[in-house]
Amino acid sequence: MPDQDPVSAFRALKGQRKIVCLTAYTAPMAAALDPHCDLMLVGDSLAMVVYGMDNTRDIDLDTMIRHGKAVMRQREKALVVIDLPAGSYEDSPQQALASARRVIDQTGAHGVKLEGGVAMQAHVQAICSSGIPVMGHIGLLPQHAASVKKFRITGKTDEEASQLMRDCEALAEAGVFSIVMEGMIEPVASAVAAACPVPSIGIGASPNCDGQILVTEDMLGMFHAYIPKFVRKFATLQPDITAAAIAYQQAVISGDFPEADHLYYLEDEKKT
Ligand code: KIV
Repeated sequence: MPDQDPVSAFRALKGQRKIVCLTAYTAPMAAALDPHCDLMLVGDSLAMVVYGMDNTRDIDLDTMIRHGKAVMRQREKALVVIDLPAGSYEDSPQQALASARRVIDQTGAHGVKLEGGVAMQAHVQAICSSGIPVMGHIGLLPQHAASVKKFRITGKTDEEASQLMRDCEALAEAGVFSIVMEGMIEPVASAVAAACPVPSIGIGASPNCDGQILVTEDMLGMFHAYIPKFVRKFATLQPDITAAAIAYQQAVISGDFPEADHLYYLEDEKKT
């Protein structure tokens, strides 16, 4: 029997076991995460995490492609999905398809993600019909907010809950292979996840989603500008980095570094 393609293999995880997803923006991070993730997302959160911007709106397609290429160089088994940044897809289905094509052609990634439900149905359909896999993103849509202070949890009213259900249905009909559900009230998130025919991936949503995603730098305790409630820190690297920088600073100033072992000698060169 021929091997399943990576996107079908990802979809087949639904109902089998929980699906593990993390963001990756660089080659070394991709190398560290790839063996332990079903999906690595080159998320536009890199605008804030890597570039120190106030929101995710000002990152462009070329930057996403550059980081996508870096991640793909180290990818061995995980599915790699790249965010279409704000301004690269919303105008029309044609614009969405052209941007998705550029991303896939230039990076070799497996799919793209874009934000929005009913309003983006035709855009998603255009990309899916061309054979490019799309991951949807509903609920809290960071590209719609000028800053994290404007991030709004959704599903608080009956109207919002119905809208989330409609968004999920519209994306599924358009052909997405999976949907990220961000920042949704329980039990609305649970209900949407239960109704979702493709893998639902939660972030600040329900444990009943088929899988979970976090921004890697958040869960490593490396990014302090904004820590949402839904983050669990699985490490606290920021204090370790600070301690290492202080130790290096002291070693350089005191002359304790470099030592003889760190220097090159003619005898070493002759041995190689
Ligand atoms: O950009 C991103 O990192 C994301 C995740 C938070 C899902 O969209």
